[in-house]
Amino acid sequence: MVQNDTYDITPNIAFDSVSGNTQKDTDLMATNNNYDFDTVVDRHNTHSSKWDKYKDRDIIPLWVADTDFKVAPVIQSALEERVKHGVFGYTKTDKERNQIVADYYQKKYNLHVEADWIVWVPGIVASLTLAISSLSKQHQQVLTPDIVYPFLHTTPAAVGKQANHLAMTYAEDRVRIDLDALEKRNAKDARVMLFCNPQNPGGAIYTFEELSRIDAYCEANDLILVSDEIHADIILDENKQHLPYFGISDYALNNSITLGAASKAFNVAGLACSWAVIANEDIRQAFKDEMHGIISEINPFGYTATLTALSEGDEWLCAMNKYLRNNRDYLLEQINTIDGMRMLPLESTFLAWIDVSALNLEDPCSFFEAAGVGLSPGSNFNDGDFLRLNFGCAKSVLEEAVSRIKKALV
Ligand SMILES: Cc1ncc(COP(=O)(O)O)c(C=O)c1O
Repeated sequence: MVQNDTYDITPNIAFDSVSGNTQKDTDLMATNNNYDFDTVVDRHNTHSSKWDKYKDRDIIPLWVADTDFKVAPVIQSALEERVKHGVFGYTKTDKERNQIVADYYQKKYNLHVEADWIVWVPGIVASLTLAISSLSKQHQQVLTPDIVYPFLHTTPAAVGKQANHLAMTYAEDRVRIDLDALEKRNAKDARVMLFCNPQNPGGAIYTFEELSRIDAYCEANDLILVSDEIHADIILDENKQHLPYFGISDYALNNSITLGAASKAFNVAGLACSWAVIANEDIRQAFKDEMHGIISEINPFGYTATLTALSEGDEWLCAMNKYLRNNRDYLLEQINTIDGMRMLPLESTFLAWIDVSALNLEDPCSFFEAAGVGLSPGSNFNDGDFLRLNFGCAKSVLEEAVSRIKKALV
């Protein structure tokens, strides 16, 4: 059993109560102008899922969750160095590199992580599957949020388990698990609960109190929580702070798998690299055993990019978050002036969650595609009243998309 009694979830960095920024953020912002997010990068002919969906059609792709930004210059240089070497054989992870992830949690969240707790996996979705199959017995159900990134719905069935959906609430315009409903729920048939924090879609960052209630529920029901924290580094609401799940309590530390990656914030999703933090040795071993024959060695480019992002990416990340905040503010203002559309405020992610039910469209996604804007249908996430719009793009592209949306509705 790993002891957590020295944990302090208070960040070791001082927050400015007005801006919500840390002193470090403020220092970094001084250098924000070094980065260019305005130039539109042509992503055609790069096998981009996002852009190829509408190739040869005049539709701005604002659907799948990668941004159109070039990576941080430090990542670009590290990758170029790696490419120059010219040999790309099987890549071994080691304790020294794991320590970079441990240092990230220490520096950013004041949380202690042992290098041994880190397990590298090519993607978060693969980890969801590994977690469910390594931890659930044949008959056991998997608890999962009702409105969430689709793979949290589909991975249980993929490994022969029934997904049992947890009711959500939209109270205060924050999409999240309804904790009152959760606490009344019998979880007897489940061993694993999937969780997404920050929540996609909707972007809610769960508070310490919310996480504590989830943790208490897990403890009362002997559940292991698998926390997908892929969007953790994207903070739009400067008064909010992401808290990794494993730092919430001793129970959480010993009964959870926390999944992280540089893929969303640093736009390296195509490089297929993520990590799992698993403090409990038995859970970790079962997870690793499940990888056997399924998961291959880590991709050297993904590994290089991720380690560079965590150790040298702060300044760029701060600038990117600032750019996204500006896009979010613009979009929120614009969308909420359109009759029949309502965008929810967003604490994290670059994925706007927009209620279009009042437009009474038979197929909202096709309607906006016909207008030249490609969005994700809310039904993919289990709420067909909504559309999801990815604003991780140059402001000029977003402005054109907004103009097309408005034109379609006059
Ligand atoms: C919440 C969430 N989890 C997981 C993923 C996918 O992760 P990966 O590509 O590492 O499998 C996404 C991608 O959009 C996501 O939004």
